[in-house]
Amino acid sequence: MSKHAPPVEAANDRAAYGAENSRRVYVRSFGCQMNVYDSQRMADVAGMDGYRETDDIAEADLVILNTCHIRERASEKIYSELGKIRELKDARAAAGRETTLVVAGCVAQAEGREMLRRQPAVDLVVGPQNYHRLPGLLLAARSGGVVDTEFPLEDKFDHLPAASQEAARARGVSAFVTVQEGCDKFCSFCVVPYTRGAETSRPVAKVLAEIESLARAGASEITLLGQNVNGYHGEGRDGGPASLADLLTLASRIPGVLRLRYSTSHPLDMTEDLIRAHAELPALAPHLHLPVQSGSDRILAAMNRRHSVRDYLDVIARARRARPDMAFSSDFIVGFPGETDADFEATLALVREVGFASAYAFKYSSRPGTPAADAEEQVEPAVKAARLAVLQALLDSQRQAFNRATVGRRLGVVFDRRGRHQGQFIGRTAYMQSVHADVNPSRLGALTEVEILGVKPNSLAGRVVAHPS
Ligand code: 5AD
Ligand code: SF4
Repeated sequence: MSKHAPPVEAANDRAAYGAENSRRVYVRSFGCQMNVYDSQRMADVAGMDGYRETDDIAEADLVILNTCHIRERASEKIYSELGKIRELKDARAAAGRETTLVVAGCVAQAEGREMLRRQPAVDLVVGPQNYHRLPGLLLAARSGGVVDTEFPLEDKFDHLPAASQEAARARGVSAFVTVQEGCDKFCSFCVVPYTRGAETSRPVAKVLAEIESLARAGASEITLLGQNVNGYHGEGRDGGPASLADLLTLASRIPGVLRLRYSTSHPLDMTEDLIRAHAELPALAPHLHLPVQSGSDRILAAMNRRHSVRDYLDVIARARRARPDMAFSSDFIVGFPGETDADFEATLALVREVGFASAYAFKYSSRPGTPAADAEEQVEPAVKAARLAVLQALLDSQRQAFNRATVGRRLGVVFDRRGRHQGQFIGRTAYMQSVHADVNPSRLGALTEVEILGVKPNSLAGRVVAHPS
């Protein structure tokens, strides 16, 4: 027997423990897709530590809340959630079962030690850059509350385990891969540059290896994620710099990758090669999420967006020239400090000019520590609410018009889950529309041509017309 092999009894014990009594981890994600991705990676780390994933919090020995701090009240919501989990933890303790409670994500980063003070049931507070240290931190948390919100020099992705093929398969055909983190843009309303830190990009080789592994496990739709993803500037395979367009080109050659997306982009970083990639890569979805935030140049300047309305419209026009079937989505903020009725009208005018397939609109929410939080001319809550309602109504009518315009068209759909009726599956078009159709289950994950027959409030009905090989 080698010196390092465990005694036979211990190994047997562990096998029995693994099969029947393995510990469970419950991870709940709030906020953006990057948090969803991080949550999966944290589940993978816990998996290495012997935890199996569960979606029943009551049976979890390890509970991880991955939090979002982008708008106000997010942290209050977390504290109320933690109060409920504390009761659960007490009930489990009464039954002789321990629960470790971890708060991760951007609220953890922003609040740090304050979280332990306000909710002593929390065992560990860990910021987004430190997930690779989880095993050690969990050990340390056994003897009291631990906080890790440093920005370490090492790259967490170098130390995070890759998802097992089993875990990757369980996550389905549509997968996220974070390629870039942090933001150097410093929009005056936004906490991201403070909670996620400076922009960093993962090397091309590592991203491609991860996509290859996901594709082998059955993922066919890959979304490359970053807070400012089109600012990607990773190390290329030849050691030189690589752009997002370079990365997309290489990713599109990976067998099994049928559809590629990237999110979220800044208008200033829509470079010529990225726009060209939309013309040249059939796998790249003709859909661009490009937040503009406001249609008023005065407000854009106050937001420190560093582009004008004209610049934004130019990007849209260039993208449409490259891909005439390109559709756009965006983010808007209403009620930014100093926003007048005329500024808001300018936002409505921009929306009418572009015509969005979908979009998100938010009331401005003051974030402590950001420059706009100190601005004097805060907009009345009632005015914000009224503007939000008007903008959302306009965006929703555009979304419905866009959906109606797809009726009669043939679109590629990647089906990824069962629908409510026998034989029915649900998938998504390149434009992120949900489509229901009767589909042969063998088509799950494949790109299937579907004729759109009709529109429902939140989805489309379709019929499979052909199975392109
Ligand atoms: N208030 C309201 N919305 C915000 N966003 C970011 N910060 C704030 C804030 N302080 C919105 C922006 C961004 C999206 C992710 O969240 O529209 O694009
Ligand atoms: Fe925030 Fe602006 Fe960076 Fe987007 S580009 S993450 S809104 S600072």
